[in-house]
Amino acid sequence: MSKRRILVTSALPYANGPIHLGHLVEYIQTDIWVRFQRLRGNQCIYVCADDTHGTAIMIRARNESRSEEEVIAQSQQEHERDFADFGIRFDNYGSTHSDENRRLCAQVWEAIQAAGLVKTKDVEQLYDVEQQTFLADRFVRGTCPQCGCPDQPGDNCSKCGTTYTTAELVNPVSTLSGSTPEIRTAEHLFIELEQLHPFLDDWTQNQEHLQAEVANYLKGHFLGSADAAEGVKTLRDWDISRPAPYFGFEIPDSPGNFWYVWFDAPIGYIASTQQWCERTGESLDDWWRSEECEIHHFIGKDITYFHTLFWPGMLKTAGFQLPKKVHIHGFLTVNGEKMSKSKGTFIKAETYHRHLDPSALRYFYASKLGPKLDDIDLSLDEFVSKVNSDLVNKVVNLASRSAKFVKDVGLSQEYPDDGGLFDKAARAGDSIAQAYENCDYNRAMRLIMALADDANPFVEQAEPWNLKKDPAKADQLQDVCTVAINLFRQLVIYLTPVLPELTDKTAVLLGHPITHWDQSQTPLLGTKVAKFKHMMQRVDQKDIDKMVDDTREEQAQELADGVRQNAQNQFHDSPDALAAEPLAEECTIDDFVKVDLRVARVIEAEHVPDARKLLKLTLSLGGEETRTVFAGIKAAYDPEKLVGRLVVMVANLKPRQMKFGLSEGMVCASGTGGAEVFLLSPDEGAIPGQRVH
Ligand code: 2FM
Ligand code: ZN
Repeated sequence: MSKRRILVTSALPYANGPIHLGHLVEYIQTDIWVRFQRLRGNQCIYVCADDTHGTAIMIRARNESRSEEEVIAQSQQEHERDFADFGIRFDNYGSTHSDENRRLCAQVWEAIQAAGLVKTKDVEQLYDVEQQTFLADRFVRGTCPQCGCPDQPGDNCSKCGTTYTTAELVNPVSTLSGSTPEIRTAEHLFIELEQLHPFLDDWTQNQEHLQAEVANYLKGHFLGSADAAEGVKTLRDWDISRPAPYFGFEIPDSPGNFWYVWFDAPIGYIASTQQWCERTGESLDDWWRSEECEIHHFIGKDITYFHTLFWPGMLKTAGFQLPKKVHIHGFLTVNGEKMSKSKGTFIKAETYHRHLDPSALRYFYASKLGPKLDDIDLSLDEFVSKVNSDLVNKVVNLASRSAKFVKDVGLSQEYPDDGGLFDKAARAGDSIAQAYENCDYNRAMRLIMALADDANPFVEQAEPWNLKKDPAKADQLQDVCTVAINLFRQLVIYLTPVLPELTDKTAVLLGHPITHWDQSQTPLLGTKVAKFKHMMQRVDQKDIDKMVDDTREEQAQELADGVRQNAQNQFHDSPDALAAEPLAEECTIDDFVKVDLRVARVIEAEHVPDARKLLKLTLSLGGEETRTVFAGIKAAYDPEKLVGRLVVMVANLKPRQMKFGLSEGMVCASGTGGAEVFLLSPDEGAIPGQRVH
C-alpha cells in the first residue's frame, strides 16, 4: 500500500490550567495513533498548541498582577514539560497567540465575510461593573428561573436540567467579584451557520468522518431529519465576537470587538502546522489544501459541536481541506466517579509523574480505550493489578527470564521449532493493526496479551533456568531463549505505539532498532544479546497512595489560595498604602506592651480657637478617669458627631505641653492626614478602660 500523508491533532489545552489525567486520555490516545501510523510506514505529523485566549486568562492575569503573555508563557512551558514526560511527542507545539494564527484568522474571516455569512445583532449580557467585563456563562451563578434551585451555573440548572441564558437567571452573582452584575447590551458579530446546513448535513451524515453515535446525535439535536416528526431544524447563528475588554485578537474590520476564543482556537491547528512547515521547508498547502492529505482530529465529546459543525463550516468556506475523521472519546472517571478534588482523584500529570511510571498509564489507558464514546474508568486498584500482571509478569518476564542466559552466545542462527507460536503471532499482526487503526486499542491490547498468554507457558515448560545448570544442554538453552526473546520482541513491536520506552530498551538489548511494524513478521537470529537491564517497574500501591495524598494536599492549598484570591477580588485593596510606607523594623512583644492602648469614649469634642488642624477631645477611661487629647483630625471629623463614640488611645504617652494646653495621650488613626484621617473604633461591646492587646 502506498504511504499515506496524515496530519493529526489533539484538542488545544487551555492555557489557564495544568494538564491532568483527564487531559492525558486524549493526548495518549492520539500519540499512540500517530506512533502506530509511523510504524506502519506512513508519513504522519502531530501538531498541537496552547489555547490562550478568552476571559479566563484575562481574569487570571489580572488577579496575579501579571500580563496575559506572562501567564500563557508559563503555562506553555509547563504543558510542554508534562507532555514530554508522558512520551507525547508533537512535531510542533504552538500557541493560538501567534502571528501565524492572527494572519490565518484574518484570512478565514475574510472568506466568511465574502461568503455573506456574517451579520450583527445586539446581545444582552451580564456585565460585572467591578471587574469591568462582560461575563461568560461560567462566571455567573444564580437561582434557576424554572425550579428555584439556588447557586446554579449560568447556562443550565444542575437540578432540573433547564437551559437558560444568564440574563434569565434569578439573583445572578458574578463569580469573579461576588457582585451583582447588570445587564448591558452590545453589538456582536454572528456567523449564519444555517446557510451551511445542506453541506453540514451531508458532511456529518455520509458515514465517512464521524462515529455513528456522533452523526446520530448531531442529526437528532441540531440538523434534524426531514422524516422526523419535528422536521428539519435550524442551526443557530454563532456568536463569534466579544466586546473589549477581552484577551484575544481584535477583529480587523470591527475595532473594539475580538474574535471569540472558539473562533481562533481551531485555526490554531493550521497555525501550528504552518510553524512546522516553516521549520521543515514543507508547504502548508500540501497539508491543508490537498486531497492527498488526511486530517484527523482527536477530541473529547464535550467539544463535539465545535468540531463537527462550526469547524467544518469554517474550513469549507475558507477553502481548506476538511477533516477525514474526527475521533471522539469519552471522559475519564477515577474509581468509578467524576474526578474529585476532595477525594484526591483530580490528579495532575505532574503529580502522577512524581510517583509513577508514565508507561504504566499509557498502557492502562490503551487497554481501556475503544472506538466509541464511552467514558473510561481509572480504577486505581485495577491499574495496579493490570499493569503488573500484563506488562511486568507477562511481557517483560519473557525477556527477564531468558535474556541473561544468552548474553555470551547470542541468539541461535536458525529459528527453532516453537510449535508455531511465532507464526501465529505474526498472523495476528493484521488484526492488531486494524484495531489500532480503528482506535480500538482495547482490542489491540487484548490480542497482544493473548499472544503473551501463549508465549509464557513455552518458557515455563522449557525451564531455561534448569537447562542452564546442565552444560550438555547449552544448545537447547540457546534455542529456548531464542524463541522466548523473539516472542517477546514481537509483542514489543506490537506494543511500540503504546510503550515507546520499552521498545527503545528492547532495541538496546538486542542491538537492533525497531522501526517498522513488519519487523514482527521475521525472527531475529544470530545476533548478540546485551546485558539485561531492568525494563519496567512494578506499580507499588504505596506510590499510588502518595500520589493521592499529594493531590489532596495540593487541593487544600488551592482552596486556601482561592479563598484569599476571592477576598482580594472582592475588595480590590490597592497595594499603594503599604508601598508608600513600608513596614517598620521588627519589634518584640516587650516593645509592644510598653505602649498601653486603651478603649476610650469621646465625652467632649470641641474646636480649638486658632488651631488649623486640631480638635480638643475629652476621653473617658470609665468612671471618673478622663484624659484631654489634642488630635489632628479637624479636617476629617465634625466634633459634634464624635461625642459618644469609642476610640483607641495611647494612654501612657508622656503628657506633652502644647500651645493650646496639655495633651495627655493620642487617639489612634490611619491615613495620610488632612481629610484623609480614619479613627480606629473598637467593635461593639468594648468597654472604656479595657486594654487593647
Ligand atoms: O475544550 C478545550 O479544552 C479547548 N481548549 C479545546 C480547543 S480545541 C481547538 F478547537 F482548538
Ligand atoms: Zn432548575
